[in-house]
Amino acid sequence: MKNVLDKLNWRYATKKFDPSKKVSKEDLGTLLEAARMTASSYGLQPYHFFVVEDDKVRATLRKASWDQPQITDSSYLLVLANKPTFDESLVDNFIDNIVDVRGIAKEDLAGYEQMMKGALMGLTDAQKASWTSSQAYIALGNLLTIAAEMGIDTCPMEGFDKAQYNEILGLTEKNLNAAVVLAIGYRSEEDETQHYPKVRYSKENLITHI
Ligand SMILES: Cc1cc2nc3c(=O)[nH]c(=O)nc-3n(C[C@H](O)[C@H](O)[C@H](O)COP(=O)(O)O)c2cc1C
Repeated sequence: MKNVLDKLNWRYATKKFDPSKKVSKEDLGTLLEAARMTASSYGLQPYHFFVVEDDKVRATLRKASWDQPQITDSSYLLVLANKPTFDESLVDNFIDNIVDVRGIAKEDLAGYEQMMKGALMGLTDAQKASWTSSQAYIALGNLLTIAAEMGIDTCPMEGFDKAQYNEILGLTEKNLNAAVVLAIGYRSEEDETQHYPKVRYSKENLITHI
């Protein structure tokens, strides 16, 4: 278990990536599979992930990200986009997928289907957007940990203009919204931040055993 904690101490939100060191396609594939395997509420996965490699697009996104260099200097930029709104088809598609994968009769899932629709369809648009965005953040957390486990550096990023990202990547017309971004690559030796001690509240402050 100590090894896991060592990895979590090793990782940090990388400020300066080394553009000459590129994460392999194979490792990228593992990370994307980890994102795909992430748990989500009911299993509905109300999001889509974009891997941005194109230099021109990344340069444009950097301008929409307070000029943060991680946007262009990392190996890959992952944009985790949530579905800001949804209708019953979100549940219907999921049910169809269960039928396919598990070979269960659709009728046998009617109770589960109604339960999900009952819980979700009455939400306001703002509640739907907040809930789907939360689901995308679970994938983000998973990616941070798995990347650290693989010795790959990351920077989770909220410091960007969502409206501009949605426009640049054409997300709005796909009913998607840029929730959060993850820069993936290898740290530059010159990034002083890697040597800073971790700042975290104490266990007493954060955890209560009842
Ligand atoms: C959701 C989220 C958004 C963040 N946005 C940015 C960002 O835009 N730019 C940046 O340099 N760091 C960003 N960070 C990094 C945090 O500042 C950093 O994770 C925190 O200070 C803890 O430090 P550590 O991750 O290095 O241990 C973000 C972190 C999270 C989880």
